[in-house]
Amino acid sequence: MIDIAILGCGTVGGGVAELLETNCEQVKAAAGDEVRVKYILDIRDFKGTKYENLVVNDINIIVNDPDIKIICETMGGKEPACSYSKLALEHGISVCTSNKELVDFYGAELSEIAKKNNCSYLFEASVGGGTPLLRTLKTLRHEKIDKVMGILNGTCNYILTKMKYENMELADALKIAQDKGYAERNPDADILGYDTARKIAILASLVSGKRVHYESVKCEGITKIDKLDFKYAEMLNANIKLLGVYNQGYEVIVAPFLIPNSNALYGVNEAYNAILFHGNMLSDAMIYGSGAGRYPTASAVVSDVVELAHNLNKFIYNGLSLELNNDIKAERKFKFLVRAAGQDALSAFGNNITELESINSQCAFITEAMTGAEFDAKAAGLDIKNKIRILEAI
Ligand SMILES: NC(=O)c1ccc[n+]([C@@H]2O[C@H](COP(=O)([O-])OP(=O)(O)OC[C@H]3O[C@@H](n4cnc5c(N)ncnc54)[C@H](OP(=O)(O)O)[C@@H]3O)[C@@H](O)[C@H]2O)c1
Repeated sequence: MIDIAILGCGTVGGGVAELLETNCEQVKAAAGDEVRVKYILDIRDFKGTKYENLVVNDINIIVNDPDIKIICETMGGKEPACSYSKLALEHGISVCTSNKELVDFYGAELSEIAKKNNCSYLFEASVGGGTPLLRTLKTLRHEKIDKVMGILNGTCNYILTKMKYENMELADALKIAQDKGYAERNPDADILGYDTARKIAILASLVSGKRVHYESVKCEGITKIDKLDFKYAEMLNANIKLLGVYNQGYEVIVAPFLIPNSNALYGVNEAYNAILFHGNMLSDAMIYGSGAGRYPTASAVVSDVVELAHNLNKFIYNGLSLELNNDIKAERKFKFLVRAAGQDALSAFGNNITELESINSQCAFITEAMTGAEFDAKAAGLDIKNKIRILEAI
């Protein structure tokens, strides 16, 4: 019997408890032993539920119980998740988490603590929810992975899908996403791109082998996208998606992109996530799946529990490093689709533009490839309504 504790029994943590019950036979076969939830630590007391007798309020009860070998941290946020994880690892208890904020902020330090104490810190569920991404990347350590890009936020993808296929404005699509429980009441972390930035920072750190901080990711959200952008996208046989993009040696960015219909990310709709990566020998590969949700995310957490069960009292290399990534120097050039009021913008962007049909008295054009900084310099003083990077030549 392997006893575990769940810290934070909400959407994901509650899903972990349920999964361990519903799939107990499969989990036992996979882990090589029965996995039992011995403790739940939560603010709520779960009075009148089957979890009532498992609830404790003091982390010390959990870490001082020699039966506990694995902790699932699914409470989210920096504190107390960070202190509790650290304490568990110092007691030789492995931790797995869905908490991307903590992985990005302190994951490398927690991994060092795990190493010193012969236990592990795993975080499959922190990027891509149920999409089996990190474990797949781990099997590709023999590759030189120079590119990772993906649709990493289900809420934004759902909103953009509604805008494209149901001709909605962003505010209306966001309202539906909130009513369906995809978006939080405060959706800023999703629509401003911060959630995607955390995830691409973790991915960039893993594939480069050096730490890329979330704060260093250049981040634009989807708030300026409107129906007109989708009209132009349709003219160009393209779709609009919020992408996190890592290209080796270039600044990591999060921004809306025009995706041509020849690209596999074009048709990734609804709340799904998809991540494309390129290895020097592997060439291109894509992983697609449910980016969030109670059961898909719980499934990813339990996949870590299974791996930890096979490696009790051992350190599993997780790809995080304390060494900072200083190789990222340049800003990658992209072509931009531009909408602007008046005709001044056409001349400001020079001769190498491709002009598009004017709609609602706005001019629209595609620029030559340039960096965001070069774009801003040319756009100074102009009434630019929106600009969207283009993933590859259209
Ligand atoms: N939901 C998803 O689909 C999803 C997908 C991927 C990753 N994640 C990540 O997984 C983590 C958890 O997300 P979630 O959606 O499951 O959140 P949630 O539903 O709010 O669950 C968090 C649980 O932890 C409890 N908690 C919070 N602070 C606590 C504290 N100081 N002491 C004890 N218990 C505490 C909460 O109690 P109260 O409810 O009483 O506050 C709640 O039961 C987050 O980092 C999130 O980003 C979530």
